[in-house]
Amino acid sequence: MIKNKNIVLGVCGGISAYKSASILSALKKRGANVFVIMTKNACKFISPLTFSTLSKNNVVVDLFDEENTYDIKHIRLASIADAILIAPATANIIGKVANGIGDDALSSTVLACKSKVIFAPAMNVNMFHNKIVQDNISKLKNYGYKFINPEVGELACGVVDEGKLAGTKDIVDFLDEELV
Ligand SMILES: Cc1cc2nc3c(=O)[nH]c(=O)nc-3n(C[C@H](O)[C@H](O)[C@H](O)COP(=O)(O)O)c2cc1C
Repeated sequence: MIKNKNIVLGVCGGISAYKSASILSALKKRGANVFVIMTKNACKFISPLTFSTLSKNNVVVDLFDEENTYDIKHIRLASIADAILIAPATANIIGKVANGIGDDALSSTVLACKSKVIFAPAMNVNMFHNKIVQDNISKLKNYGYKFINPEVGELACGVVDEGKLAGTKDIVDFLDEELV
């Protein structure tokens, strides 16, 4: 059940980043407290203001911002999270976490988190089927990370194939079932 749970929503720099706003609204409607972490590249697609307004919480982008330096954000968010949902998850974040890289707020929080982490990938079909990306996904699944498969649909590059972010309801239902 999502109700009353602390969900960290990770937003990466993909064309479907705008859909994360709908995911956030759906999580809020089901009673979750949502804390958004955006990658710097995600901010090129959608503004942190959208997520702070919808979540009613500050959005974390930069681990090293000048305010509240006593607050180690990635450790705090990792410890309060009942789950981390990364939607959309880029090939980049999947590769970083699969290889233990924590070079920004989102990847560091994931590495520091002992709760469930769910990736909803979205990317070009060739990126998604790239053997390295698939190996990274298999590796993460073996470590217990969960994945919500992308759908077949029209991708940003114009082709109709696999790589489209799963639907908002499917993502939120998946999370609901994963949280006891
Ligand atoms: C217009 C545009 C759309 C992109 N869409 C995606 C995407 O859907 N999925 C993906 O994995 N990368 C996509 N990329 C590439 C990522 O932005 C790039 O790999 C970036 O380093 C990801 O950074 P992040 O994972 O830190 O957000 C796109 C890039 C551009 C310029």
